[in-house]
Order: sequence, then structure tokens, then C-alpha cells
Amino acid sequence: MVTSVKVRAPSSTANLGPGFDVFGLALDAFHDEITLTKKPWRGVRILTADDIPKDPQQNTAGLVIKSMKQKFKIKSGIEMRIKKGVPAGFGMGSSAASAAAAALACNRLFNLKLDNKTLVKYAGIGEKASAGTIHYDNVAASLLGGFVVVKTKPFDVIRLEPPKDLVLCVAIPKLKVPKKKTKVSRAVIPKTVKLSDLTENLANAANIVSGFLLKDSDLIGRSIQDVIVEPARKHLIPGFSRVKNNALDAGALGVTISGAGPSVIAFCKKSQNVKKVAKSMEKGFSSAKIDCETIICKPSIGPKIRV
Ligand code: HSE
Repeated sequence: MVTSVKVRAPSSTANLGPGFDVFGLALDAFHDEITLTKKPWRGVRILTADDIPKDPQQNTAGLVIKSMKQKFKIKSGIEMRIKKGVPAGFGMGSSAASAAAAALACNRLFNLKLDNKTLVKYAGIGEKASAGTIHYDNVAASLLGGFVVVKTKPFDVIRLEPPKDLVLCVAIPKLKVPKKKTKVSRAVIPKTVKLSDLTENLANAANIVSGFLLKDSDLIGRSIQDVIVEPARKHLIPGFSRVKNNALDAGALGVTISGAGPSVIAFCKKSQNVKKVAKSMEKGFSSAKIDCETIICKPSIGPKIRV
């Protein structure tokens, strides 16, 4: 009988420019680790050395476990150990990694045999707690790995394998982020958009999907262009335009905000000088007097489950 399950789920980047709330890409830059253990008492207890809420009702992963426990009438007590690796609040899918790992661990520990779509839905419950509204782009990427396309009405999740030569460079600025950062950065997005802007974003989004299907990193890179959300959010990231232009000048194929920011992500190919792109992004942030950490990473194949 399985008594304990450990899941390591990857960080992710959402939107990829024009795919707001629809596209996600799992990144092997960072990981969150969740260990669930059956216990002889009732309820859910969280153990962690990280600076995150320990009350399951306030914790992203705690909410996922509580709702699965209730839905599947799980009587056993559950101890949840959380080890955060994904920096919280920087647009790298931190809450999503924990939520995805929790949903997968619970599924395995109690042999629930849930399909991927259902697991993504449960993991999304945790996101609601941190972002205010539900969005599945990061959780789907963290849970399934690779590139994902999520649609809510009706609910659908598609996973595509990224091209082997796709490399990402993420610049994480050392900024003080507001507590409910995603909520704040969602509040600045326009409620209505011009039809010509919609057409442009739609064409770019369609080409990104085509790029993943055709394994064409150049097509993906040059389609990372968003004329709706990025212009509305970029003022929240000091030095953004410099960082972006520097990276493009250094050879990046496409550059945009990672998720709700403030990290900036550049899409590159293995054959390029990605270190040069990283340096150029650091210079961009330093022109706004901001330090940043740059991470060169690859798409992640997805979580690892250990029983
Ligand atoms: N799609 C979401 C947003 C991702 O951009 O608000 C947040 O991590």
C-alpha cells in the first residue's frame, strides 16, 4: 500500500505574448516539491521551512488537497511537506507548481485515477486563491510539461512537445513585488480591445501553435508579439523596453513578459549565443538601476512522481 508520494513540479511561463490565459510552457529553471503522507488523524497539516501560509485554507497547495479530500471523501489525515524552489511572485508559476504537484500527489496517493483534464481543474483551484480569478495556463504547463493550450468553455487542455532547440532566457529583476501581484497586474489590462489588435494577436497566437507543431523555434520566436496585454502591463516593469530591445538586438527571436511579470523572457535557439542575450537583459535592467538574475533554461518535460 502506498503511504507517501513525492512530486517535483516545474516552473512555467504563461501567455507567451499573445496567448493570455491560454498558453503555458513548462520550464526546467526551478521546481517545487510536495510530499504527501497518509496519517492516522483527520485533516490536512502543512510542514514547510519556506515563508508561505501554513493554514491549508490560505495555502495554494492546501486548497487543492482540501477540495480533493472533500470531493473524493478521503478520510485519512494528510501531512503535506512543501519545499519551494520556484521564486514566488515573479511570473514563473510558483503557486501553480505547488498546486500541480499537490493534485498529482493526491491522485497517486489515493489511487484516484483522474485524467489530466480533471487534475488541471483541481490544480486551478489553488491558482484562484493567489490570483483572485481562475486561470489554468501555468498549472496545465506545470502538470503536463511541454507547451500547453488551455480553453475553458468547454474545458480542454492540449499538450504539444516543444522543439528540441528551443532555449529560454529569463531575467528576474530584484524588485519588491506586491503581495497580490497577479491581481494587481490583471487590473491594468483593458476590458475591451480594438478588432485590429485582436486580429494581430490571434495571428501571432496561431503561428505560435503552428511553430510548436512544426517544431520551428524561429516561427515561435518571431510570433511572440502581443499588442494587447504587454503594452498595458509594461509600465509595471521598470526598464522593460530597454531589456526587450537589448535582448532582440543580441539575437533573441522574441521577448515578452513572463506570465504576469515582472520577469522578462527571451525565446532563443540552442545555436545562438544565449549568454550574450542574458548579459544584454542584465544591462537593460541595470539602466533602470535594477539588479536582476538571468536563468538560461529549457522547456521541462513535466513533473516527476516518486512513491
Ligand atoms: N495568464 C496569467 C496572467 C498568468 O497573465 O495574469 C499569471 O501567472
